[in-house]
Formats: sequence, C-alpha cells, structure tokens
Amino acid sequence: MNKLPNLIYNTQDIHEIAAKFPALVSLFKWFHTGKGSSPKVDEASPKDGSPALSEPTRVFTKEELAKYKGENGADIYLALMGKVFDVTRGRDYYGPGGGYAFFSGVDGSRAFVTGDFKPEGLIDDITGLGSQDYIGLRDWLDFYVKDYEYIGKLQGLFYDADGKTTDYYHDAQQWIKEASSYKEDEDLFKEKFPMCNIEYKPEEGSRVWCSTKSGGIQRDWVGFPRSLYSADSKNIRCACAQEVDLNDSLLKEYPNCPKDATSCMLPK
Ligand code: HEM
Repeated sequence: MNKLPNLIYNTQDIHEIAAKFPALVSLFKWFHTGKGSSPKVDEASPKDGSPALSEPTRVFTKEELAKYKGENGADIYLALMGKVFDVTRGRDYYGPGGGYAFFSGVDGSRAFVTGDFKPEGLIDDITGLGSQDYIGLRDWLDFYVKDYEYIGKLQGLFYDADGKTTDYYHDAQQWIKEASSYKEDEDLFKEKFPMCNIEYKPEEGSRVWCSTKSGGIQRDWVGFPRSLYSADSKNIRCACAQEVDLNDSLLKEYPNCPKDATSCMLPK
C-alpha cells in the first residue's frame, strides 16, 4: 500500500509554518535538495523560440489552468516556470485538502524556493532571486519532468499565446545558467580548498586539522591547514591546501604552526 499519506498529513500545514518561521525555508530546501536529477528540458528547443518536436503544443490560459485543481475527482495540473504538468497521480499532495494543494491550477514558481505559500507569494515572477534559488528552481523543474507528464505551456510570463518562448523566458534561462555556473565554480573551489576539521576545548582553545574527508570532500590527499581569505578579505576560514597550492595569495599560514603540519592549535 501507499505509505505516503502519513507523510503528507505531516506537511499539511507547511505553508503556515513557513509563514511563521521563514528560517525553516532553508530546511525545506535542504529536505528537497536533489529531488530532481539530470533530464533537462528545452535543450532541444530551436533558437527561434518555437517548440522542439518533443514539446507539448497545448497552450493554457491562466483561467483554464485554474480549473484543474482536482475538485470532484477532476485532473490536477500545475505550472512551473510556464510549463504545465499533469500531477493527478500526486492527488494526495496536490488534491483538495492535500499539503501542497496551493500549487494546483497555478504557476507558483516563486513559492517553490521562497516557501511563501500565501496567495501573494504563489506567483510566476522569479525576478531578483538568489543564485541558490535559481538552482532550486532548476532542480524542481528536473523533478517534474522526471516524475510527471509535461503536457503544455501557460500563456503568461514565459510563453505567449502561441506557446512561443518570451523574452522573459530567455532572461530566466540566463539567470539559471549563471547560477549553475556560479555553483560549479564554487564547488570546484570547495574541492580545491576543503574546510578543515575544527574542535574547540575551553582549556586548550581551537584545533584545526586536515584529513582525507574534511569539509565533506572525500579525496586522496590530506592537505595543510591555512587561513583562507576571500578575495575582498572580508571572510576568513580554515582551508586544507595541497602542497602545489600553498603559494596561493589567498592563503596565510597559522602562527606557531609548522608549514608542513596537518594539525594546528589556533592562538587563544
Ligand atoms: C520550500 C518549502 C517546500 C516546498 C516548496 C515543498 C514542496 C513539496 C512538493 C511539491 C511535494 C510533492 C512532491 C511530489 O509531487 O512528489 C512535497 C512532498 C513532500 N514534502 Fe515538501 N516542500 C517544502 C518543505 C518541506 C518540509 C520542511 C518538509 C518536512 C521536513 C517537507 C516534507 C515533504 C514530504 C515528507 C513530502 C512527501 C515525500 C516526498 O515526495 O519526498 N517538505 N514537497
């Protein structure tokens, strides 16, 4: 039998919780991180904005889409960044009384990453979000493409009445692309300079040390603890650096710690 309903009822009041405790949104994001995986939509879209062959041709108006909220056993559709998905299979989540019913019949893209499930938060406008949010939207889109059927396009910000992509659609693609490449750079940097392990004992102070999985980066080298300064010198953290990178201008040795030590006591 389906084991999901119990979980769903736990998430029933999630919108109220999110409204009261915005800090929980990051937990939400973490919880759903990785829901989506690789299949990407639109890669095959021709440059002129016309739909690729595999793209659905049906175009919904907002009024039409609003009819598909699953009332009286009807189908349930939702839109994400202008793409309409048939989520009838997920009736327990999206149907009347479900924990995520507010996503049905609308394009509430913004709320997928802000956690603002109030009517004013459930909007398709994704302008001005942070880089992590664009990654989140990309992952949600991957999730829906993978788990549900992509059945049409919503006439509005992302698609026009003929189902052609709008300028806004291309802007949004660009924001997501930039966020993805920023994250790639960030991930590479974290791999180059993984965090150190850190422990604090009141009587001894702090100790930082490197190991083959410090900072959550599994690797075949240990590295040497150094202070790592951000380019604007505003942030400092402990990083494990390989010998070949020790002359990087962002790194500084810890005082009273030998150059080749893998563990250092920090001055109190
Ligand atoms: C930004 C906040 C959140 C959003 C946008 C969100 C969205 C969603 C959506 C759309 C679904 C249905 C997925 C499907 O179609 O299969 C879902 C399922 C679920 N959510 Fe959330 N959620 C959020 C926060 C949370 C939090 C904080 C929890 C609990 C810690 C949670 C627990 C669950 C569970 C248990 C399910 C069902 C199981 C699953 O598919 O993984 N969600 N969520």
